[in-house]
Amino acid sequence: MAKAVFPGTFDPPTNGHLDIIGRAAAAFDEVIVAAGVNQSKARLFDLDERLTMLTELAKPFANVRIGTFEGLLVDYCRAEGAGVIIKGLRSAADYDYELQMAQLNHAMTGVDTMFLPTRAENAFVSSSWVKEIAKLGGEVASFVPAGVHARLLEKI
Ligand code: PNS
Repeated sequence: MAKAVFPGTFDPPTNGHLDIIGRAAAAFDEVIVAAGVNQSKARLFDLDERLTMLTELAKPFANVRIGTFEGLLVDYCRAEGAGVIIKGLRSAADYDYELQMAQLNHAMTGVDTMFLPTRAENAFVSSSWVKEIAKLGGEVASFVPAGVHARLLEKI
């Protein structure tokens, strides 16, 4: 059974994340969308809020479940029996950054990474920019799923 992990911070999940979840679900028997717990990044949404949003997004996909991980991603993959990490790529800059991580993750444990090119309509969407635009009063409804948008408006 081919199992993959789609990891991220998901602060908050965007349309780009949702698209990758759907495409990964179509390609693998099981997909775990895994929210990182302990990276040293300032967060807008706490872990519970991010998990709630991800659970809503994953509802249409019977073979997708939500998880959390702490520490090395490859250790989590091995503990879950997942041989593949899924990453979405928006740009050459993403590729340069992700390639090194993919190679390190493979060298450490043999866990492989598969890149999915982001759909053109999501190529410029990132959680960081969505947060900044929303904080400054801009409209982000077309960049995030409706439930996430509602939570962003509540939060800001
Ligand atoms: O959504 P993000 O912020 O791009 O997600 C980054 C994430 C969580 C996937 C990445 O930081 C990660 O894999 N962190 C786990 C720590 C780890 O395994 N580090 C070694 C990478 S070679």
